[in-house]
Amino acid sequence: MSQTTDLYCVMGNPVAHSRSPAIHARFAELTGEPITYERRLVPMDGFSQGVRDFAAQGGRGCNVTVPFKTEVPGLATECSERVQLAGAANTLTFRTDGSIYADNTDGLGLVADITRNAGVPLAGRDVLLVGAGGAAAGVLGPLLLAGARHITVANRTLAKAQALVQSHSALALLQKAELTALEPRAVTANFDVIINATASSLAGAGVPVPATVLRPGALAYDMMYGPAAQGFLDWARQHGAVPRDGLGMLVEQAAEAFLLWRGVRPPSAQVLREMQQSTTA
Ligand code: ATR
Repeated sequence: MSQTTDLYCVMGNPVAHSRSPAIHARFAELTGEPITYERRLVPMDGFSQGVRDFAAQGGRGCNVTVPFKTEVPGLATECSERVQLAGAANTLTFRTDGSIYADNTDGLGLVADITRNAGVPLAGRDVLLVGAGGAAAGVLGPLLLAGARHITVANRTLAKAQALVQSHSALALLQKAELTALEPRAVTANFDVIINATASSLAGAGVPVPATVLRPGALAYDMMYGPAAQGFLDWARQHGAVPRDGLGMLVEQAAEAFLLWRGVRPPSAQVLREMQQSTTA
């Protein structure tokens, strides 16, 4: 007798490059959870229709990637505090009563990869977050909750960094953390952890901050992975930092989504090791 499977997907435009289907398929295999996970290419102006169609076809939940993450809060019935803070979501759950719950697991994934997989504690650390777009907004709250002592948000457009700092000021106060907004060239301090959340590697531009931001042995993390992260990782290595790309964040944000949907935590560290081995093989 064949077992019925629950349907999930990742929606984006483009979406062909997404590694989420492979990650969730491996999670399903390792946990025995009966799920099917697809890619769905959604027209640029058709995100909410795409979500409605997928739910009507029996979908149980979906991940959301570029460029739709900021559209999610407008269509969800309920948004987690993380989504309210970030203004963006990457994980939808379709409940049996027809309501839609939105969460954002990107920041949890980043924190898990830095602290668990890379073994770098964030508590009490000085962190530089480069960028103030959707990617940076998604991780600032979880970085504060992980106990960073001082987070500097550096962005080409200063007003966006200031807005991000402003929207997170209450959480920073609660966490007894300091938050600063600066233009990249105005950053004179150095840091334990530097996180690149700009699209600058994708655009082929140089790293937007001076190498003096790197303390010796600092962790230099690019939220991208593959060729898009290479420029930043090379720069970090040349200046004595420990480079790390965003593959682990990708696997860990998927693990948090899987846990939300299935109530089972998949062996994410094992899946990350397998993916790292297959990319270097
Ligand atoms: P994402 O969802 O990936 O964060 P986004 O919201 O468009 O995409 O944000 C892109 C981020 O990368 C922004 O912080 C952007 O800086 P601005 O706010 O000044 O536009 C940053 N960025 C993109 N290209 C850049 C470049 N060449 N140099 C420096 N920062 C860049």
